[in-house]
Amino acid sequence: MKKIILLIALSSICNLVSAADEPSPAALAGSNGCLICHNASQKLVGPSFKSIAEKYQGQADIQKTLVNKVRNGGAGSWGKIPMPAHPDSTEANLNIIVAWILKGSPAN
Ligand code: HEC
Repeated sequence: MKKIILLIALSSICNLVSAADEPSPAALAGSNGCLICHNASQKLVGPSFKSIAEKYQGQADIQKTLVNKVRNGGAGSWGKIPMPAHPDSTEANLNIIVAWILKGSPAN
């Protein structure tokens, strides 16, 4: 019985530790509003994350350019519909999300 209680205590400590971990890039994309207009594989208002990854594949210095574009907004790379600016998204979070998009937005 004591062992079981110990196990339960240990597993809830583990849960607490993992809850304190950084949110996943996918969760950040949700909480920063990106998924309102973007989806992993289908064009919504904006291009799919997969097409963005394909378009910029192999461009070493693209990360910073895209982070700036998301922060400041803009149009013209995919068509006339502009992406609004995201002044409330931190550069740190945008770096995580954009790196994840460029990696092909894996589910995990
Ligand atoms: C209101 C809709 C909308 C929201 C919200 C939005 N986007 Fe976009 N996004 C667009 C559109 C439209 C484009 C295409 C802009 C263009 O043609 O240059 C785009 C383009 C992009 C691109 C490619 C830019 C380029 O120059 O090729 C990236 C990367 C991107 N979005 C990431 C994000 C991230 C990350 C977020 C969340 C912080 C986000 N978007 C939120 C509509 C949106």
